[in-house]
Amino acid sequence: MRHSILAGGKRIRPVLAIAACQLVGGAAAAATPVACAVEMIHTASFIHDDMPCMDDDALRRGRPSNHVVFGEATALLAGDALLALAFEHVARGSTAAGVPADRTLRAVLELGSAGGPGGIAAGQVADMQGEGDPSARLPAMKYILVHKAARLVEAAAVSGAVVGGAGDADAERVRRYAHFLGILGQVVDDVLDVTATSEQLGKTAGKDAAAGKATYPRLLGLEGARAYAGELLAKAEAELDGFDAAPGSIWLYGLSCGL
Ligand code: IPE
Ligand code: IPE
Ligand code: MG
Ligand code: MG
Ligand code: MG
Repeated sequence: MRHSILAGGKRIRPVLAIAACQLVGGAAAAATPVACAVEMIHTASFIHDDMPCMDDDALRRGRPSNHVVFGEATALLAGDALLALAFEHVARGSTAAGVPADRTLRAVLELGSAGGPGGIAAGQVADMQGEGDPSARLPAMKYILVHKAARLVEAAAVSGAVVGGAGDADAERVRRYAHFLGILGQVVDDVLDVTATSEQLGKTAGKDAAAGKATYPRLLGLEGARAYAGELLAKAEAELDGFDAAPGSIWLYGLSCGL
């Protein structure tokens, strides 16, 4: 578990959770447990994503993938354990940080729904079913991106906002921002799979084409995918307009630029 989660990574989702909490006037400490939990869920999904039965990738975050070091059985369990620990950690840590129980419960709902059949699991199934299917079209592509990637990014931001005390309207605005940001992140991930090197990425480049994955660069070409990324960035930032000058908004703008 430590091998994969402490390997680094950009930690976009935890930063997003903390920034969204601050955006609505919460203290960063209130969001630390959900920030850590979302990184555990994300890392668990990577451990499983890299296994031979899925993307069969030997490199992750600049290190040998979990199953390469520890074997498949231990990697499977490390992913399961990180997933369970995420929810234990939110319950324990949020209570200790003085977050009211109803807010913690809403955060748990967000994180659970993003990791399960309405989120990562569904997206990963569709991702694998789309492998080698030359008839894959944009709606199927979008389904994959939204479920395997954007739902967890949304959950990171919304759970951070909720533990920070966001009302429903602010939480939904944060959700729309993060929805576009999440799709953007995966479009950029797909573009980088084509344009970057394994050294730059810390994971194997060129895997999507080799596996015949349904990706935006494959459907729209590199320029089309880049143009779509630009549209998503504009849509994401438009949702931040109403939060001008609030602490946290600078982070959110910075995150979109970083991608
Ligand atoms: C990329 O995730 C693939 C997705 C699941 C969307 P990141 O690009 O955020 O990966 P890390 O956390 O920095 O390694
Ligand atoms: C992974 O998508 C999404 C999840 C792990 C949920 P990818 O398969 O594109 O991610 P990378 O390219 O291996 O990081
Ligand atoms: Mg994959
Ligand atoms: Mg992969
Ligand atoms: Mg990828």
